Amino acid sequence: MSDRKIGMWLYQNGGGDIIQKKMVKKLKERDIKVITGLNLRNAVAKNKNIICTSSDTGKEVKVNNLDLFFSYNAGEQTQYQIFLYQALNRVIPMLNSYASFSLTEDKFQTSFLLRQHGVQTADYKLCHRDSSSHLIKVLKEWGKMVYKPTDGWGGLGLTKIENEAALDMLMPFLNQMDLRFLYVEKFIKYDNSDFRVDIVDGEFVSCYGRKANGNDWRTNITSGGSVFVRDASDEVIEIAKRAAEVCGTAIAGVDIIYDEEKEEYVVLEVNGIPAFATPEQEKMGLDFNDKKIDLIVNMIDRESQKN
Ligand SMILES: Nc1ncnc2c1ncn2[C@@H]1O[C@H](COP(=O)(O)OP(=O)(O)O)[C@@H](O)[C@H]1O
Ligand SMILES: [Mg+2]
Repeated sequence: MSDRKIGMWLYQNGGGDIIQKKMVKKLKERDIKVITGLNLRNAVAKNKNIICTSSDTGKEVKVNNLDLFFSYNAGEQTQYQIFLYQALNRVIPMLNSYASFSLTEDKFQTSFLLRQHGVQTADYKLCHRDSSSHLIKVLKEWGKMVYKPTDGWGGLGLTKIENEAALDMLMPFLNQMDLRFLYVEKFIKYDNSDFRVDIVDGEFVSCYGRKANGNDWRTNITSGGSVFVRDASDEVIEIAKRAAEVCGTAIAGVDIIYDEEKEEYVVLEVNGIPAFATPEQEKMGLDFNDKKIDLIVNMIDRESQKN
């Protein structure tokens, strides 16, 4: 296996640039050349080729001729890129695979599949937008629920609905938004903290916790939450591994909370592009970056031989 060439698009903020340098060096040691800065946003598809100019070298690359493409930039992902991601993964290996990436971009699709495979998630209901009256019944059954955009992130757009008045308030907004469906989850009673468990290639990488800020019930950093050092029990690790396996995400960040009423762990979502620890978080003691890099490099080495 000589002359292997892979493409990479990795976020550069929050220490991503340092991670990329380490990864490129380790791949080079294995005779794998890396072309970085391949933002498909700048790509043009032309007959049999998808041509992308690397923002690092300024050179044009036929990405469909690469041995693998590593796509790892949640923040800058656009619809156009996802469209090309789908096409590209029909012809070359990608990490994560398009199938698993697009699955985990959608909370309903993920919860449905996890449940099929016996992985506990928050109880949810999905209905057609015209069946909104159904939600009144659901609210009566559950007491409290959370409305979620199925493709959201960072806790944005999540709305806690505690009574019928709150539901009445929300409905006109939802009707305005031209949605195809409504997705709600039972509001889980928990201690406002979660476990973020990273799994790469079926192996446990790390666990840390996030805690909601003040009266907020969302643990997202974007919603004011904070990260803390937290160990995972074997049970939590097993659940995360199973969730990653079911979703087919070679790289996964599994969000887990503990349901105090049902007395069980619940998977809230699977993230297909879980961030590495930032330099500040590393100082706090989140020291998993090197292990994660090694597991990803191993996987790239193995998968890039398959084309
Ligand atoms: N069903 C629920 N019950 C209670 N809290 C929830 C529920 N779903 C989400 N949360 C809280 O909201 C946060 C964001 O929800 P999540 O489904 O992970 O969406 P996002 O993609 O925006 O992060 C979670 O980290 C958790 O703290
Ligand atoms: Mg989340």
